[in-house]
Amino acid sequence: MQDLFEQIVHRPPGHGLPPRCYTDDDFLEFESNTILQSEWHCLGRVDEVPEVGDFFTIDILSEPLVVVRKAETEIAVLSNVCRHRGMPVAEGAGNTNRFRCPYHAWTYALDGKLRAAPLVPKDQLQKECALPEFQSRCWLGFIFFCMSEETEWPGDITGDSKGDHPLKYLEDHVANYHMESMHSAAHFTEVWDCNWKSLVENFMDGYHLSVVHPETLHHLTPTSLCKKVTGSNAFTAYTANYAGTAPARENHHPSLTVDQTRQSQLFCVFPALIASVSADTLVYLALHPLSADRVSVKWGLSTYESDLSDAEKQARIEKWQQINAEDHQILQRLHSGLKSSRAGTGPLAEENFEGTLSDFHHYLVSKLGILDLPSRQSAAGE
Ligand code: FES
Ligand SMILES: [Fe+2]
Repeated sequence: MQDLFEQIVHRPPGHGLPPRCYTDDDFLEFESNTILQSEWHCLGRVDEVPEVGDFFTIDILSEPLVVVRKAETEIAVLSNVCRHRGMPVAEGAGNTNRFRCPYHAWTYALDGKLRAAPLVPKDQLQKECALPEFQSRCWLGFIFFCMSEETEWPGDITGDSKGDHPLKYLEDHVANYHMESMHSAAHFTEVWDCNWKSLVENFMDGYHLSVVHPETLHHLTPTSLCKKVTGSNAFTAYTANYAGTAPARENHHPSLTVDQTRQSQLFCVFPALIASVSADTLVYLALHPLSADRVSVKWGLSTYESDLSDAEKQARIEKWQQINAEDHQILQRLHSGLKSSRAGTGPLAEENFEGTLSDFHHYLVSKLGILDLPSRQSAAGE
């Protein structure tokens, strides 16, 4: 791996990451230990669990989780693993007033506390028998969780020269869209045959829009009108401006400016939530890496309108299924190219088209902790 670290650190300025970063399972394990297990991941949308007792299950980095509305104003992300002998206690999604393990019927309250265990005396039910709860946050209608106890939510970090937290600029940039009050129309879970970083980069690259999506996007958001937004060490973003001939979006939050009704804002909250919000539609993809070659994608679509007809809802979903299919296909082909012994990486396109990739790479390299690795290793060897 040392040679790969050297290649990453010493790549020419303005170039992408070496191809092996996308194909090597050892590198994914390194990413997992240095980034994925300690950073914040999106699990879905708050309005997937509107009522007390609503829950859904999801596995992330081999960690079975249950997301539950435990009280009117509180969502918990619990370990979905029974404290008796390790059985997942919940399956799928639904509404319940307790989680009952299907193996020996230990029963847990919505906050994870053990309530009953058949034939076990009460005094033997220890506090540590509760389902562990992970750190979680609701942000603009997204549910995030973090496996590590140590990592602060970026929105809680005060920090830059103006005293703003690292997500503040993005929050301000998308505030008028009011994603927190949009309505979930559908969500899907798929496995894409590519590296998770390729999918982040593809979504955040305006350069491919006119080439890969000639029918679905080029007439609306051509590459030439993309404009990079200033990023931070917690996010990157760009604005896809609409072509003059693109139809106006009629329904939207009254706080949107005229310009904003003719723009989509695409953003990535590092490491692995990517989203596009327009006047009337939010689409997000929450990425959960499975291996160097495969990534689980939970993607969902929310609408500004609460009373959208089924036909219109279906039309928006089908359009995004088409866009995603175009991206999935190109990323599968990219992945086979990246595995070539002759694969290399050229210079990235200008700031407005691929500057978001530079932000992402800067974030990755700083979190991987490899900038000072050679000196650390030589110190250790002395
Ligand atoms: S494994 Fe859950 S009750 Fe036994
Ligand atoms: Fe795309």
